[in-house]
Amino acid sequence: MSPVGERRVDEVMRLYAQAWWTRDRDARDVAAMLRSAQPTIGAVTPDDRLVAFVRVLTDFRFKAVVVDLIVDAPHRRAGLGGRLVRAVVEHPALKAVEDVELYCDEDLVPYYASHGFAEPPRTRFMRRSRSRAEGTIPLTAAAKRSADDGSSRRK
Ligand SMILES: CC(C)(COP(=O)(O)OP(=O)(O)OC[C@H]1O[C@@H](n2cnc3c(N)ncnc32)[C@H](O)[C@@H]1OP(=O)(O)O)[C@@H](O)C(=O)NCCC(=O)NCCS
Repeated sequence: MSPVGERRVDEVMRLYAQAWWTRDRDARDVAAMLRSAQPTIGAVTPDDRLVAFVRVLTDFRFKAVVVDLIVDAPHRRAGLGGRLVRAVVEHPALKAVEDVELYCDEDLVPYYASHGFAEPPRTRFMRRSRSRAEGTIPLTAAAKRSADDGSSRRK
């Protein structure tokens, strides 16, 4: 488990190609994201290939939001995702954070519950998007997502 910097942008893009909400991102934007001071964690193979990635949006005191947890398809269901979630929770820079939060598909609720996350009462997740309103995703991207996973939502 180690921080993931800009030099791994191509490898992050390879993982981003495997998830419906990240696959349309631009490599230059992802490189800029990797340059930011927000925590990133990756799992690399002994021959130094990135096979799992997660990043965190945080103020380092009150909130930390876990985003873009993606494990390379051939490496799934071997505990890597769980190790990354634990690495976030135990991250030295996040020790003082009160709430570690995330949003996920319904299917993954039991998975995150098994890692100590619970749905807070009376809380709904909301979004105001700068580029695209919910429900007005460009037709080609929306069609591709529906075909891929039966979902037309954007994470
Ligand atoms: C979700 C994900 C990160 C899990 O990583 P992983 O390394 O495969 O997970 P672990 O090995 O730690 O845990 C495996 C367990 O997770 C749960 N799980 C994994 N993928 C799941 C899915 N798509 N739906 C429901 N449960 C799932 C199961 O309980 C599974 O146990 P099982 O193999 O005995 O059924 C990985 O499948 C992935 O990258 N998926 C695509 C991207 C994604 O959806 N990320 C989540 C963002 S919120």
